[in-house]
Parts: sequence; structure tokens; C-alpha cells
Amino acid sequence: MLILDVFSPLLLVLFLLPRYSCRAADIPEDTTAEFSVRLYHRLQAAGDQDNIVFSPLSVALALGMVELGARGASLEEIRQAVGFSHLLPGVEFSLLQNLTAALSEDNAHYVIRFANSLLLQEGITFNPEFLHLMKKYFQADVETVDFSESAAVADQINTWVENHTESKIHDLFSADDFSSATRLTLVNAIYFRGSWKNQFRPENTRTFSFSRDDGSEVQTLMMYQQGDFYYGEFSDGSQEAGGVYQVLEMPYEGEDMSMLIVLPRQEVPLASLEPIFKAALLEEWANNVKRQKVEVYMPRFKVEQKIDLKSTLKDLGIKNIFTNDADLSAMTDGKDLYIGKAVQKAYLEVTEEGAEGAVGSGMIALTRTLVLYPQVMADHPFFFVIRNRRTGTILFMGRVMTPEVVDPNDQDFDSM
Ligand SMILES: *[C@@H]1O[C@H](CO)[C@@H](O)[C@H](O)[C@H]1NC(C)=O
Ligand SMILES: *[C@@H]1O[C@H](CO)[C@@H](O)[C@H](O)[C@H]1NC(C)=O
Repeated sequence: MLILDVFSPLLLVLFLLPRYSCRAADIPEDTTAEFSVRLYHRLQAAGDQDNIVFSPLSVALALGMVELGARGASLEEIRQAVGFSHLLPGVEFSLLQNLTAALSEDNAHYVIRFANSLLLQEGITFNPEFLHLMKKYFQADVETVDFSESAAVADQINTWVENHTESKIHDLFSADDFSSATRLTLVNAIYFRGSWKNQFRPENTRTFSFSRDDGSEVQTLMMYQQGDFYYGEFSDGSQEAGGVYQVLEMPYEGEDMSMLIVLPRQEVPLASLEPIFKAALLEEWANNVKRQKVEVYMPRFKVEQKIDLKSTLKDLGIKNIFTNDADLSAMTDGKDLYIGKAVQKAYLEVTEEGAEGAVGSGMIALTRTLVLYPQVMADHPFFFVIRNRRTGTILFMGRVMTPEVVDPNDQDFDSM
């Protein structure tokens, strides 16, 4: 047995930005929805923060890159947890490749960019077959660096990340994140920017009270529109009035991608609805919402989260790759590699159109008392999913417990 003061942190950094959309031609159904929902429940149970946002697709891609270099229990745990165990060995790589290719196809309606990078410690020899497959399935850039020059490496990765996220994310790493013991860093960045099919008019945005689950209120910028969306009312199975909740699906331009909003009744905390969420329910919502005119009040929001994937994934059964028993022998011949660190940073900004819109001071076009259509009033916590409508691939999932808070110096819907 050799010494293990040489550990090998492998850092997964994932990252997401605003919206996007896609065209999925003959793509197989994504099989990772259950994994996505389990991740959500873990993050919710961890209770680190109020708002949640993460990218299930990005986690699956990062794990795919690791899986490519894994064997034995390290490999099996990933296949099992992510939802690939019913596929023939290796088919998941082709699946991930096809799902990402499908997302990148339609570049007329939105911008989505996947940028995968693999940084190796100079002087270490990685298996050529592994490098070849990384390029083939993940289009990953491969570079060698000297991790003992930790400040320079952090700068280099931060610049790379900035370049791939339209400068939305800065200073992701600091020199402390790397050391002479670091062998391999995986960076997986996803950038998404799309426009609503039905945009909100900035002049209809107003300051409005948002009631948080603890009963407190904050002032936020509430967007408004009346338009054609997909809408449905569902029941959590209880007989109580509060058991009914609303689901609104708002497509992005191109209609391949959409955001689903799940909103409990005003008096019902989101936390009491969350336990029922599961993959089959996502399908049920998506299949049963109907196109109709809806009045939508939705806060502008910006959610951001940095997740320690190591502890989260361990809870979901992916443990081996983080221990000395890890078998990443398809990456190198040695058995001394394991994953020391895994991080995802996700950022999502939802506005009237996609860019920041100016807040108008005009009058709103209608009165609240005249309700002609179903009304979705997201002035209290809600759950959201941004997904590909054809394949079910989930780009983002999360919840808004506290939206963007503003000074209450604008006009109010309430006073009208
Ligand atoms: C991915 O696409 C290729 C080319 O269309 C196809 O041959 C392959 O079977 C697809 N992979 C999966 C897992 O569907
Ligand atoms: C980032 O972009 C700038 C300007 O396009 C370029 O000079 C630089 O090499 C890029 N850096 C990385 C790490 O990709």
C-alpha cells in the first residue's frame, strides 16, 4: 500500500446561466429525471439556503466525464444513481452526447453553450483512450497546468469561465482551491440565455409585496402579462382546499424549452407541497397542462447557488469516487486518484425578456377585480423547472423563496 498524502482533488465546476432552448430531433427520452428530483430533495433537506437553483443536466454531464474514467464500484454507483443502469454499458455517453447536441442545435432562438474542460497536472500521464473519449463525447478541451502554481491556475480557470458565461461569473476559484496535490480538475460550464415566447412588457412591471413562507413580506418587482400559456390545476391528493395547486408552463422562443412554475395556494407553504415532487409528477404536469389564456404575475428573480456536490452526491449513493478506494483507473494506470472536491455553481436570472428591462411607471393595462382568465399570482414561494419539452432534459431546477428585493419606491398594484 502506498502513501496517501498524495490525494487528488478533482474539481467539478458546473455552472449555469439564464435560459435556453433547443431542438431535439430523434433524441431518446432523458432518463435522469428521478435523479434530478432526488438531488432537489437533498438540497432542500440540507437547508443551506432559502432559494435553490442547480442544473441536473450539468451534474449528469460532470458525472459522465468522471464515469468515463471509472471502473468497478466507482462506475456502478454512478450508473445506478444517475439512472443509467438499464442501459447497456457505455450507452449513457452517447445519450449525454446526443442530449447536449440537441440542446445546441437551434441557435436562432437562444444561446446555449456547453464548455467542458479538463485540466491535468503536468507530468502525469493520462490514458490516451480516456482523453480520446472525453473529446468525442464531451468535446472537452484538455490542457496541462501546474497546480502548485495555484494562483495562476485559479486565474486561468476563472478567465475561461468568464469567457464562457458572457462574463456573468467572476472569481469562481481562489488560489486556495488548488495545491500541489491536485491532479485533475474538471470544469463544466453551461450558459443559457433565451427569450420568452411571450415577453413581459417592462412598463407593466411594478413593485409588489411578496409573502415569504415565514409570513414576512418583501417588496419585489412583479412582472405582469395576460397571454397564451399552458396551464393546469392539480391536487396533492388531500381533500383540503389547500391541496390544489397551479402549474404554469411558459415556453421560450422556439417552444422547445420552457419553464414550469408550480405554485401552491397563498395560504399553503411551498414546503408542505415539496414532499410530493417526483419524476413521474413532472411528466404528469407537462402532459396535462392545457394551452389557454392566463393572467400571470411573476417576480423578476435572480437565483444563485454554489453547491458542494461531494456531500450531496454521497447522500445519493455516489460515495466510492470520493474515497481512497476510488477506481479511476481508466483515466490513468495508477489507482491513487480520487475526487477531492466537486462543486456546482448555478446562476439564473429571469426578467421580462431575458435582458434587464427598464421598470416603467405607466399604468397597468387592466384591473385586478376583473378576472376573466385563470390567474397565476406568484407573490409567494414557488418551484420551477426549465426543461426541454421533447426529451425531458432538465436544465435548471429550483425554488424561489425570496425574490429580488427592491426599495418600495415605485407604484403598487395593491393601491390600484
Ligand atoms: C445518438 O445519436 C446517434 C446518431 O444519430 C445514434 O446512432 C445513437 O444511437 C444515439 N445514441 C443514443 C443513446 O440514442
Ligand atoms: C478569454 O477571452 C480573451 C479575449 O477573447 C482571450 O484573450 C483569452 O485568451 C481567453 N482566455 C481563456 C482562458 O480562454
